[in-house]
Amino acid sequence: SMLRTLARRTSTAGTRRGFASESAPDRKVAILGAAGGIGQPLSLLMKLNPLVSRLALYDIAGTPGVAADVSHINTRSEILGYAGEEQLGKALEGADVVIIPAGVPRKPGMTRDDLFNINAGIVKSLCTAIAKYCPHALVNVISNPVNSTVPIASEVFKKAGTYDEKRLFGVTTLDVVRAKTFYAGKAKVNVADVIVPVVGGHAGVTILPLFSQATPSANLSSEEIEALTKRTQDGGTEVVEAKAGKGSATLSMAYAGAIFADCLLEWDLNGVPGCLYSCHSYSQLVTEPAISLHPRLRFGKNGVEEVLGLGALSDYEKEGLEALKPELKSSIEKGIKFANA
Ligand code: NAD
Ligand code: LMR
Repeated sequence: SMLRTLARRTSTAGTRRGFASESAPDRKVAILGAAGGIGQPLSLLMKLNPLVSRLALYDIAGTPGVAADVSHINTRSEILGYAGEEQLGKALEGADVVIIPAGVPRKPGMTRDDLFNINAGIVKSLCTAIAKYCPHALVNVISNPVNSTVPIASEVFKKAGTYDEKRLFGVTTLDVVRAKTFYAGKAKVNVADVIVPVVGGHAGVTILPLFSQATPSANLSSEEIEALTKRTQDGGTEVVEAKAGKGSATLSMAYAGAIFADCLLEWDLNGVPGCLYSCHSYSQLVTEPAISLHPRLRFGKNGVEEVLGLGALSDYEKEGLEALKPELKSSIEKGIKFANA
């Protein structure tokens, strides 16, 4: 919807001057890690979102250049650039939505968990600042390993007394984006019509696309479903290998991060009820890792209104679900242990 809005806005530019700023509420979005591979295109996409009025771009370095560049784009939001830890508070103050793509990415041969030692500390310190400067913001965690960084965020917020499970999200939308693309190609259906729920976590087998529930339905063989499942689970690695040492997915991730944030802005903050959208919240996983695997959310006037069940699973998906639980559980526990150490 954001890109459709963008296309419309661009085509009518000049004829509807001041439209958004006069009618839409003030919304501040902060991006932490804004000068990075994801951060830069994500900053661009959020600058194109007419629901944003102020966009704070924060990184340890490099943000003045990114902010100056993006600020010349003639869309609604005011761009605020912040560099260095001493400016983090200012970047966060008054933020409605915080998106965190800060941290190191994978190189070929690494797992996402290999990033834990560096990224866990980054996420912990950024979330400590969020609890202090914008305790009510909707927080979107992109930094890997997501299966552990979201539990770290939740523990930090619990300690600070600001935790709200309806306001913390692990952004695994890229898995949904991939599942839709790969399914459309195989099923030969219009990709814009495709819905595929993806549940579980965000690493290898913990990513569980539910192709048995995909629509428009198609008569795919079990071999084809298995291949689609594996490709979705290994989508990140496919990009890491193709980039051959130059990092992981950045452009598709920026897209996924931007559409997820757009849903929060439109559905949650603006109270527009959203129909079913496959996104993930790990909050439920954090409280009861072994049993609560229902991270599909329905948005309504009051934010997250319903956590949807898994629906009917095929035997293949049931096996996948059992197989992912131990890894997901231990990644969650690793995050919790780190946060409380
Ligand atoms: P990158 O190295 O290009 O950029 C990371 C940025 O974070 C850099 O600009 C760096 O200066 C900044 N940074 C480091 N420490 C910081 C701190 N304390 N505060 C603020 N900024 C800080 O990496 P990238 O390709 O943009 O990837 C970023 C992260 O996103 C990685 O952990 C990667 O694994 C993850 N990722 C997640 C998904 C997902 O689906 N959730 C997809 C792709 C990448
Ligand atoms: C992805 O799925 O692309 C990200 O989690 C980055 C990675 O390391 O694979």
